[in-house]
Amino acid sequence: MPHNVLISPSILSADFAALGQAVRDIDAAGADMIHIDVMDNHYVPNLTIGPMVVKALRKHTTKPFDVHLMVSPVDALIPMFLDAGADYITVHPDAGPHLHRSLQSIRDGGAKAGIVLNPGAPVEQLDPVIDLCDQVMVMSVNPGFGGQSFIPSQLDKIAAIRARIDAHVAKGGQDILLQVDGGVNPTTAQDCIRAGATSLVAGSAVFKGAGTYAENIAALRGQNVSRVA
Ligand code: DX5
Ligand code: ZN
Repeated sequence: MPHNVLISPSILSADFAALGQAVRDIDAAGADMIHIDVMDNHYVPNLTIGPMVVKALRKHTTKPFDVHLMVSPVDALIPMFLDAGADYITVHPDAGPHLHRSLQSIRDGGAKAGIVLNPGAPVEQLDPVIDLCDQVMVMSVNPGFGGQSFIPSQLDKIAAIRARIDAHVAKGGQDILLQVDGGVNPTTAQDCIRAGATSLVAGSAVFKGAGTYAENIAALRGQNVSRVA
């Protein structure tokens, strides 16, 4: 079925003792990308997945790996995640030390580069690096944990970034995915899409939602969730 918003389920909400199966299941359920949250207990107060796990998961799907690096400093880890099979690597501008160089090194390694803006970060952080971005992600929760509530004030930021991307494309610039991460459920998903998002990350809503993974993903796209017998 055609659809125009990408869904990137976050395996942070999956069973960590069965991550390979989780990746195969969300692939079969219609996920467009696989969102992998990398946390270092320094940039954020949690500790999750490293490049060895990403590499081990690589053989379980051909869908793009959307790797969200919540680590500081970030640069030394980028080659490891490139080697592990990341397709998108997204970094926080304040993870440092050199955002522009981080984005260059992601692209030089053959992956798509993204920046991610925390709820307290200004939209202007995109401007100096927009030429280097394939994806911009808006955090609609503070980073570190799944299962938090969507912060509505981020909708204005999504709309502001939508305007910047459209202006960039109108001037001949590359198109950029506008992704939202945190507290995305079937209701907030529609708010995000209306504000201009083209990609949605969802952990709890996919892995702990009311239906099957396929139904939960369809619900995020705004499609009927009626069960096919
Ligand atoms: C939070 C992570 C999110 C998280 C989203 O720091 O970046 O990707 O998994 O989880 P939900 O969808 O449950 O808010
Ligand atoms: Zn994330």
